[in-house]
Amino acid sequence: MNTVEFANTGVHVSEMCLGTMMFGSRCDVAEADRILGACLDQGVNFIDTAAMYGNGETERILGQIMKGRREKLFLATKVHKGVDRRSILESIDESLARLQTDYVDLYLIHWPVEGMRPLEIMEALNQVVTQGKARFVGCCNYPAWLLAHSNAIAARNGWAPLVCNQVAYNIIERGVEVEILPQAMAEGIAITAYRPLVQGLLTGKYRWGQPLPENSRGQTSAQLITWLSQYGEGVERFIRFAEARGITPVQLAIAWVRYSPAVTSPIVGVSSLSQLQATIDAFAWDLSPEDYETVTAFFNTEVKEEGLQRFPGLRYNFPRLRRNLHLLGM
Ligand SMILES: NC(=O)c1ccc[n+]([C@@H]2O[C@H](COP(=O)([O-])OP(=O)(O)OC[C@H]3O[C@@H](n4cnc5c(N)ncnc54)[C@H](OP(=O)(O)O)[C@@H]3O)[C@@H](O)[C@H]2O)c1
Repeated sequence: MNTVEFANTGVHVSEMCLGTMMFGSRCDVAEADRILGACLDQGVNFIDTAAMYGNGETERILGQIMKGRREKLFLATKVHKGVDRRSILESIDESLARLQTDYVDLYLIHWPVEGMRPLEIMEALNQVVTQGKARFVGCCNYPAWLLAHSNAIAARNGWAPLVCNQVAYNIIERGVEVEILPQAMAEGIAITAYRPLVQGLLTGKYRWGQPLPENSRGQTSAQLITWLSQYGEGVERFIRFAEARGITPVQLAIAWVRYSPAVTSPIVGVSSLSQLQATIDAFAWDLSPEDYETVTAFFNTEVKEEGLQRFPGLRYNFPRLRRNLHLLGM
């Protein structure tokens, strides 16, 4: 597994980040333990979790299975409650207790919230760092202007900056290409790209016009069903392209995300040990520029001119990431 520098911190992490959202729901403690062991055996040390996954259960499982392994890991978790000062400070203590550790490597705001106060947030996050409870702080799902605004506040006050933006990024959800990825490149912000397999849609098991695979997230995820009906034809072409190249759709999906120089680490979720190996193997295969163009054209998700107000790839996440200032109560 390759390692990459995490933002401009001088710290190196595995290029693959393991997403643990399925721990405690589709994956029990014993399987989670095997997954973590296999990750460490193959050089994957970057682990993403969140207090809200399973309402704390995922962090609790990690607390159990990280025993004796904690120092080998670069562990990220996220604020659970509100984003006011008190919630941030309480939330980190609760996460540390569940995770059975004194610190996390990365502490993230999970979502921007209407009425949030960036000054208060940045001061509270800085306190988390100065107390030694997190090495670095960052955010998820922040529009570029909000990240820049927050880091300007941090710089004025000598506080810890946001070093990471964790965002949805895959061949279907491409809104971040407009401003977030260029900002990250320009500012040395780490981009951790979640949902690289579109919740499993690009793994080859979802076929257009065929029944949903049994025991899969497609059985319960309305998002996944919508994407399949909207992009089913593209998914078919994607699977056939992978077959023609002699690779798996998982390899192709991850290679597509890794193709962007702005992406530090794709965060891949697995619900079983058997899925993990295909995922790890995917990081050894690169997409050529010609193949990138061909595969991308299977999906009509290119982000068009902003001035024309056409954002075909942003149907899902753009309304939440609007750059208007209602987030700050303005
Ligand atoms: N910050 C945020 O707001 C945010 C939001 C969402 C996710 N995340 C993070 O990102 C991580 C990944 O997101 P995600 O799980 O939604 O999306 P994903 O990584 O695109 O999809 C993971 C799903 O793909 C399927 N899969 C994986 N490997 C496979 C293989 N080799 N063969 C067949 N199927 C395979 C599994 O589905 P089945 O379980 O159906 O088999 C798995 O649950 C999460 O764990 C979490 O850490 C962050």
